[in-house]
Amino acid sequence: MKQRGGMAAAKLLCMALVFWGFLRQAAAQEGFISIDCGSTDSYTDSLGIAWVGDRRYTSSGANAAIDIKKANLGPDASTDRRKLQTLRYFPEPVGKFCYDLTVEASGKYLIRMTFLAGNQSSLNSTDFSVSLGAAHWQDLVIVDPWTPVVKEASFIALQVNLTICFRRGTNGDPFVNSIEVRPLSQYGYQLTIDDWIMTNIFRIDCGLKAGSPSVRSGFGCSPHSPSITE
Ligand SMILES: *[C@@H]1O[C@H](CO)[C@@H](O)[C@H](O)[C@H]1NC(C)=O
Ligand SMILES: *[C@@H]1O[C@H](CO)[C@@H](O)[C@H](O)[C@H]1NC(C)=O
Ligand SMILES: *[C@@H]1O[C@H](CO)[C@@H](O)[C@H](O)[C@H]1NC(C)=O
Repeated sequence: MKQRGGMAAAKLLCMALVFWGFLRQAAAQEGFISIDCGSTDSYTDSLGIAWVGDRRYTSSGANAAIDIKKANLGPDASTDRRKLQTLRYFPEPVGKFCYDLTVEASGKYLIRMTFLAGNQSSLNSTDFSVSLGAAHWQDLVIVDPWTPVVKEASFIALQVNLTICFRRGTNGDPFVNSIEVRPLSQYGYQLTIDDWIMTNIFRIDCGLKAGSPSVRSGFGCSPHSPSITE
């Protein structure tokens, strides 16, 4: 009897440990927003990151599937491939084209976007700007359709609505392949409202070029990267 009781206790402990692991995994994605632009699919990638299509976040633009066989995806090809395979572009001649996200007011976040034109030849030479909330963030010039451009910033959410807008430049249509948002609270970054947006506070280069420095963390760029909530 005693032994059986011991086994039951061991079983319970084991179940509790499994449940704990489960909770930790769920917690690891709390506040994560991973948008596969131009896609209508929801899926989980090989790193356990849950992706969603972008329909619910924007009403502008058009989606396109691109051929990325010739793309220089570097060592993260296996995890980056799917999110890069579709994009949303904004062929409308005037205006700004926006994504509306919901975050926690005053939360600290990291945002990362990728841009790869691939065989979508109308996008292989284009320039446009990106804003976060009311602030201008980036002027982008895309000249190489086969090398992903990756842009990151950390910022404080001034309110629950985070609007990401694209505006035309002088050539071509704005476009975007993926948008990822990660909460940064655990890191205690010294961001203040005065400089609420900091571009490339550290570098996460998943479209690795030979010789470029690389810090792999935060977005699950490689199977060895630490999760940002750990
Ligand atoms: C690019 O390739 C994709 C996938 O093969 C194809 O669906 C799409 O029509 C191509 N686009 C252009 C502009 O050729
Ligand atoms: C961009 O697309 C045009 C066709 O629209 C093509 O002539 C040109 O070679 C492409 N450029 C690159 C770098 O692929
Ligand atoms: C956030 O956006 C929603 C939907 O567009 C709107 O109803 C709400 O008033 C907005 N909230 C703030 C604080 O701007």
